[in-house]
Parts: sequence; structure tokens; C-alpha cells
Amino acid sequence: MTVVGPFGVSVRDPALDAEVQAGLSAVEAGLVEATKSDVDFITETAQHLVRAGGKRFRPLVLLLAAQFGDAHGPRVVPAGVVVELTHLATLYHDDIMDEAQVRRGVPSANARWDNSVAVLTGDFLFARASTIVAELGTDAVRVQSEAFGRLVTGQIQETAGPRPGEDPVVHHLDVVAGKTGSLIAVAGRMGAMMAGAPAEAVEVLGRYGELIGIAFQLADDVLDIASDRAESGKTPGTDLREGVATLPVLRLRELAARSGAAEDVGLVELLAGDLSDDARLADALTGLRAHPALELARQDALAFAERARESLAPLPDGAAKEALGELCDAVADRTS
Ligand code: IPE
Ligand code: IPE
Ligand code: MG
Ligand code: MG
Repeated sequence: MTVVGPFGVSVRDPALDAEVQAGLSAVEAGLVEATKSDVDFITETAQHLVRAGGKRFRPLVLLLAAQFGDAHGPRVVPAGVVVELTHLATLYHDDIMDEAQVRRGVPSANARWDNSVAVLTGDFLFARASTIVAELGTDAVRVQSEAFGRLVTGQIQETAGPRPGEDPVVHHLDVVAGKTGSLIAVAGRMGAMMAGAPAEAVEVLGRYGELIGIAFQLADDVLDIASDRAESGKTPGTDLREGVATLPVLRLRELAARSGAAEDVGLVELLAGDLSDDARLADALTGLRAHPALELARQDALAFAERARESLAPLPDGAAKEALGELCDAVADRTS
């Protein structure tokens, strides 16, 4: 058993392992190529996060999905470059919105330069992704643009918050499906489409991508609280500091409303206050790490990973299906 790619999932089948490894290397080369500009400064800003690494989770899903058709088809690797470039662009923009200082273990572009540079670099990356997807056909353009619309809608809904009377957990899961599920669904769908897989496989892999994408984001939000910077490559508690209520906080609010216990209510109040102060943020993190709400949120992530695994049932058995199942375990394992 070897470990494929920076995400570190194990693929049991050696032939598949080698193929996916080669695919990821080709995507990597494509990313470096696509982020070159005649203007040296743009090359520097665009390659800043490419070179900083990242898990390359979306290209990995795409390459595995391509196994249900002709995985060597000429449109597979470029589609992998498109999904990662799109993801990368959203990271430049997201770090401005979230005022994040660290990304992939290095200063975010907004911290390293400023917001204008980060916005424009994100736009440049979208432009490059669009140029490549234009070569892949109108179906690919449609899949990409519809998902991108959903992604941005999710980000805006997160900023806007739930409507009056709307269940905050339902709202949050909608946000997560939009901002993260949509693009990982593209990875599943496009991988299969570009490889010429049967229509049913395209549908199943799109659905799988959506579900594992939701699990992936929920797991990441648990990690934002439970892990240290070395593990996540980001600053722990960024969501809390920005007042972005992710599932652990929403589950805590539910528990506190039900129990009325002083400690629960106290923690809810601490979280609702100003956490720009490092000591208060540290207290909030300590409180949440020790609270059963974190375990509830972890279980929510595991439930989506399980649904992703079950969604694979209609696909033909084989090494690729097995690897996609292993990916569900790997996402679930991130929370513990
Ligand atoms: C970050 O995505 C945003 C989330 C969906 C949690 P990744 O966790 O895939 O980030 P990189 O690409 O590995 O840096
Ligand atoms: C990022 O969401 C989602 C997108 C980039 C669309 P988050 O804000 O939750 O992700 P991190 O924690 O910054 O990676
Ligand atoms: Mg963020
Ligand atoms: Mg965000």
C-alpha cells in the first residue's frame, strides 16, 4: 500500500496508484504552466500558493472519477488543472473575506501583499481556468460555471447568515454544500465526463463529490478548532475570531439552549463576544475543545463521509471504487 499525493490517501491497487500519481504530477506541471504571466509580479503572486503546496484533493477526486472511463483521455489532466485553479482562486478571495493571515503554511496573499493584489490574483487565476476549460467543450464550461455560481452563492449566504426563522444548521449545511460541495462535485462529474464515462457514472460521481465535499468542509471546521497550525497550515480559531459560526458552534448553541447550563451559556456568550483578543480566543478554543458539541460536529462530518461512501454503490466494483471509498475514510480520519 502506498500513499498517493499530498492528501495522503492509501490506494491499495499498485497500477491505479501509479496512474493517479502520474496524473497528479501532470496536473502539478499544468498548474505551474497556467500560472505564468509575462508580468513577473503576477507570476510571483499567482504561484505563491501553488508552490506552497496544498492537498490537491480536487484533482485527486477528478483523477479517480476518470477511472470510470478512459482515464488517459486528453481532457482529463487539463480538467484537473481547471478545478485546482478555480479552488486556488477562491482561496485568494476567501482569505481576504476572512482576514486570514496564513494559508498552506505561508502568509496569505492579502497578508504578504494586500487585498487588491489578492483580489486581482484570484481573478487572474479564474481567467486562466476559463481559458483552459474553453478547450474542453461547452458542457465542461457549463458544469464549471454553474458550480462557480453555487460556490459564490454559498460564500455570500455565509456572510448574510440565516433568514429570520431559518434553522441555523440547515442554513449552514446549505452554505457548505454551495461553497465547498459544488466544486468537489465538479471534480467528480468532470473527471467522469472528460474520460467519456457512461452518463450514470457521471451522475453518481457528481453526487459523491458533493457529499464527500460537505464531509471534507465539516471535518476541516472541526480541525480549525481541534488542531494546531502545524497540522492545518492555517491559524486555529480563524472562524471563531471572525465570528463565522461553523457546526461546532451551532451544535453548542443548540445544546446550551436545551440545557440552560451556566457553563454552556457562558461559552456561547464568550464566543459571541469580541475574540480579536488572543487570550479570549484561546479561552474560547479551550472551552470548545473540551465541549461535547465538538464531538457532535465530528459525528456530522462522519455521517456525510458515510453517505458519500454509500453513494458509490451503483458504480462497477474495482480498484477505483475502492480508492474512492478509502477517500471517505481519509476525510473522516482528519477529524480525529
Ligand atoms: C480549503 O480547502 C477550503 C476548504 C474547503 C476547507 P483545502 O483544505 O482543500 O485547501 P488546500 O488546497 O489543501 O490548501
Ligand atoms: C473556504 O471556506 C471555502 C472556499 C474557499 C470557497 P473556509 O473559509 O471555511 O475555508 P478555510 O478555513 O479558510 O480554508
Ligand atoms: Mg477562510
Ligand atoms: Mg470563508
